[in-house]
Amino acid sequence: MSHSQLIEMAHKNLAHAKAGTIEQKPDVYRVPSSHYYDKERWKAEMDKVFRRMPLMLAMSAEIREPGDYKAMDAGTTPVLIVRTDSGQVKAYVNMCSHRGAQVMEVGKGNTHRFTCPYHAWSYNREGELIGILSNKDFGDIDKSCYGLTELPCLERAGLIWVTTNPKSTLDISTFLSGYDELLAHFGFESWHHFDSQIVPGPNWKIAYDGYMDLYHLPILHKDTFGADFPNKALYYKWGPHQRVSGPDASLSAYEDLPEDEWPTEHLISGVWTIFPHVSIAGFDGGGRAVMISQLFPGDTPQTSFTIQNYMMEKAPNEEEAKAAREQFKFLRYVVEEEDYATGIKQQHALKTGAKDHILFGRNEGGGHDFHQWVDTLLETADEDLEKLFTTG
Ligand code: FES
Repeated sequence: MSHSQLIEMAHKNLAHAKAGTIEQKPDVYRVPSSHYYDKERWKAEMDKVFRRMPLMLAMSAEIREPGDYKAMDAGTTPVLIVRTDSGQVKAYVNMCSHRGAQVMEVGKGNTHRFTCPYHAWSYNREGELIGILSNKDFGDIDKSCYGLTELPCLERAGLIWVTTNPKSTLDISTFLSGYDELLAHFGFESWHHFDSQIVPGPNWKIAYDGYMDLYHLPILHKDTFGADFPNKALYYKWGPHQRVSGPDASLSAYEDLPEDEWPTEHLISGVWTIFPHVSIAGFDGGGRAVMISQLFPGDTPQTSFTIQNYMMEKAPNEEEAKAAREQFKFLRYVVEEEDYATGIKQQHALKTGAKDHILFGRNEGGGHDFHQWVDTLLETADEDLEKLFTTG
């Protein structure tokens, strides 16, 4: 089913390349400038988007073995993700039940028990409270009521989603809208996590707009990607998630082959975004590789940070690792010095109020859909969320 969708997109990408066309939205789209800096609006986005939507927080390759864990700051919530003895992945708020200290430092490792650095209360991989220091002195409590707070979590396609609201009833699979079946074609379960780096950036939507925008590539990135880089985009949607790819004449090489022989690695080219904050961009760097960028809002409307993860289909040899290291450095430069540096100046200008709205062209359909989804979520009550993702 999902393979046939890849083939269908490939035919479309090829047809548009032959005709020199793209699909355009019916009209230009306007977004109020204040949506990028208004504090109340930003707070609503944190509550209604980041605290309610499942976030793609980890790759399976980062926590492959029982006891492997990852502690991270997911923007609004400190999260602890662990692979349990049964092989299942669980996620918790990284907060001790005693007085609320963060149980694990941000980072990764393998452990049988999570011990809080404040007074050494400890928890097992299932999040159960198993040890209280000087228990007799402390007094009696029912340990079974004081485990770590578990969060909804789902592992699919070699990626791990967590909802940071422990009371969320939104089914993560429903939220994915079938997109995970497409992402499964990468085969991330068996990939190698080469390295990660953190890049500071502007307002989260200013930063994220750029991941769905090919229009700027030959201009802003003329010195890095080149002034000839194509700027035409085709957008494909599954719920709020979007694949961005370009018209692609090179697909004509397969026209005489049966469709099941068209190479998957070509069929999945482009940028795959996972709403509301992830982008997967493919390229070659010492082997088949992608950069998975996880974007998180900072403490204010003007700040964000992005965890860039360099993933490789196979663990690299020494020479491939050197090439990958160079490419990762280059990609940091492109994002930090070109995209985010421009975004920081852009938000400074937007805040002047000189323009009450900004524009997304008919060729920038990804931005239309992304901003409409954010607006819709801000207006949707918790009890209606499931329906929203079921009906698309
Ligand atoms: S806050 Fe964790 S043991 Fe006291």
